[in-house]
Amino acid sequence: MNEQTNAVEKRKRVFSAVKPTGNPTLGNYLGAMKYWGRMSDEYDCLYAVADLHAITVAIDPKDLRENSKRLFALLIAVGIDPERNVLFMQSHVKAHAELCWLLNNYTMFGEASRMTQFKDKSKKAPENINVGLFDYPVLMAADILLYQADIVPVGDDQMQHVELCRTIATRFNNRYSPTFTVPEGKVPTFGSRIYSLSDPTAKMGKSEGNADGNVFILDPPEVIMRKFKRAVTDCDTCVHACEDKPGITNLLTIYAAINDITLERAEREFAACDYATFKTRVGEAAVEVLRPVREKYEALRRDDKGLMEIMRVGAEKAERLAARTLEKVYKKIGFVRL
Ligand code: TRP
Repeated sequence: MNEQTNAVEKRKRVFSAVKPTGNPTLGNYLGAMKYWGRMSDEYDCLYAVADLHAITVAIDPKDLRENSKRLFALLIAVGIDPERNVLFMQSHVKAHAELCWLLNNYTMFGEASRMTQFKDKSKKAPENINVGLFDYPVLMAADILLYQADIVPVGDDQMQHVELCRTIATRFNNRYSPTFTVPEGKVPTFGSRIYSLSDPTAKMGKSEGNADGNVFILDPPEVIMRKFKRAVTDCDTCVHACEDKPGITNLLTIYAAINDITLERAEREFAACDYATFKTRVGEAAVEVLRPVREKYEALRRDDKGLMEIMRVGAEKAERLAARTLEKVYKKIGFVRL
């Protein structure tokens, strides 16, 4: 297809969201965040900070507030340009909560009960199995369907939720008339799986136990270097990627992902290296790739008014798109509209 037909064709719409829980890691960056900004070359992209989703597990008000602002600024810092994308805070667009209520009535109890994340989270916090936790995937469906998204990039743990969203959309379309675009979930094939530096069998960020295993995007350079220098390796001394060297393989994967090169090429670069030098060089690469992200982030956080203004503009753009879908839904169901 040539450039011209491409330009005339309607661009596909992408929607994704991230919860403001936890502190984003180098693993999140190399696994996904690094690529989000580039998607807008090809698609119309909407990204939300899913703050409404964050309260299904107990969270302190000040943590919710800080995490939300931090994630919002960080998304810009990793490359989501708020001029080229619609970037907003989920709770700023009331249509999400409204559509969630409406969609609840087209979601079967049994369907929501089968969600593995609901079952897992219920097991983890049996004292707080609240209705919000149960309703979580319906709110997600509302997020996606409000914007008529074609593609929803998600981690594989969220695929089941996107499937439920498709079920709900199809049911609604069949019951009334075509209303929602039935979206496609996509687990991105780019991005690398990064493991903890102290326990290379656990995904980075998942093992909260050993803080040195997780490199956070916002860690200062000396902290990043310390963590890399303490990274576990193994007993021989050759820098080579293979199954029985998970620590070395993880470090090579990190280096390859940072430099956009293959694992083999990374291996060749370090062929004559001892472990200490190798770890230092990977650490330095991580420091350098994260430095501009942290600097951009810090600049954004120094200007709170400016950040709030970016949020406001994003919310307005999202609101306009969402209102159209929401109004249609109300009418189709039979609500009297003013
Ligand atoms: N639940 C998603 C996660 O934990 C975040 C999310 C909320 C989301 N709403 C969404 C992802 C809509 C994709 C589409 O990762």
